[in-house]
Amino acid sequence: MKNTFSFIDLFSGIGGFHQAMTHFGGQCVLASEIDPHAIAVYKQNYGIDSNRNIREIRNEDIPNHDVLCGGFPCQTFSKAGKREGFMDQIRGTLFFEIARILESKHPKYIILENVKNLAGHDGGNTYKTICATLKGLGYRIPAEPLILSPHQFGVPHLRERLFIPGIFDPDNVDIPLDISFKGLKTKADNSIYSIVDDQESDPRYQLSEHTIDVLNAWDEFYKGIDVDVIGFPVWSKYFNNAAIDPSFPEWKKQFVRKNQDLYKRNKAFIDKWLKRWNYLSDFTPTERKFEWQCGKAISSVWDGVIQIRPSGVRVKKPDTFQALVALVQTPIIGKYRRKLSVREAARLQSFPDSFVPDSSPQMAYKQLGNSVNVLVLEKIFEKLLEMGK
Ligand SMILES: C[S@@+](CC[C@H](N)C(=O)[O-])C[C@H]1O[C@@H](n2cnc3c(N)ncnc32)[C@H](O)[C@@H]1O
Repeated sequence: MKNTFSFIDLFSGIGGFHQAMTHFGGQCVLASEIDPHAIAVYKQNYGIDSNRNIREIRNEDIPNHDVLCGGFPCQTFSKAGKREGFMDQIRGTLFFEIARILESKHPKYIILENVKNLAGHDGGNTYKTICATLKGLGYRIPAEPLILSPHQFGVPHLRERLFIPGIFDPDNVDIPLDISFKGLKTKADNSIYSIVDDQESDPRYQLSEHTIDVLNAWDEFYKGIDVDVIGFPVWSKYFNNAAIDPSFPEWKKQFVRKNQDLYKRNKAFIDKWLKRWNYLSDFTPTERKFEWQCGKAISSVWDGVIQIRPSGVRVKKPDTFQALVALVQTPIIGKYRRKLSVREAARLQSFPDSFVPDSSPQMAYKQLGNSVNVLVLEKIFEKLLEMGK
């Protein structure tokens, strides 16, 4: 079907599905999105106006198409009364919009995407209803939730997502679609340096002097203490021998005890370290906490991937990046002493370097965090095409 198929891109965002479908020669005949910033990025990259609320598109205005794509928002369905059909159970939700288009157009293929937790959402009821609806509309789908992450295909991004591929085959809806992959990679098979640029001079990605100080302080701390593997969060405010607050829950008492033990064993070094860094008085409460999550894999903060999170300065091995999600602090690439660039974030979603992101980095990170990994979609679609022959 190369060069000859059409697709519609629902909840189209910045076009993760668009990228994957056009890779196979697909032509987009309709896109639907309501976020003005995402609409602008879509227009600039693909020349298509996606500015349409899916709820307002009538079936008769939707062109015929071979593939329906949609990374739809997850919503709870009504607990159905016994006599309600599936279309009634899902009425009012955005999944309903997908279902009513399928009912009217029955495209041959579907690929839907959602967060992994959709499989367990509302005690499994949501996913069960989605599957039953799709089968009721004539689609063969996998028997089990298909959960995949880009790192399994060599893209250093840990992002498990639920995918629902389907083929219109009303006579065989009870034969599950067997979509599986051999030779999937593990987290440890990956390296962030496969997508990271060694040169990046854009000042927007450079670290402030203050952040460099915070990271230097913790680097010195890690190198000075008597253990390589710290199996608990380091909370510098408990570097003392004070009595533990009895009102703390047991898990917290244990962490405080471990911090006090660490302090006791390394008192001479830690006292000197605290003094040298002005008792961390210039640090925010977050910056006074440290989480070393690399075991013995690396021996310096500057060799890790760093995220400054509410729980503290977290250092991880440079094998993968945590899932890009909207609103989370941009990771720092220790080796290059800078933040992940927008171009690199786009690579984590397997967008080609020709993709033009939003001009505001904050907006671009958010949109990429809402998007979908293009390579994973391509891998799934390749299988779907094979099975649908
Ligand atoms: C999880 S994101 C999907 C992103 C997309 N797959 C991509 O590659 O960027 C869901 C999108 O649905 C859009 N959306 C929410 N309600 C909508 C509606 N009623 N009609 C069209 N799009 C809608 C949101 O603005 C959001 O961009």
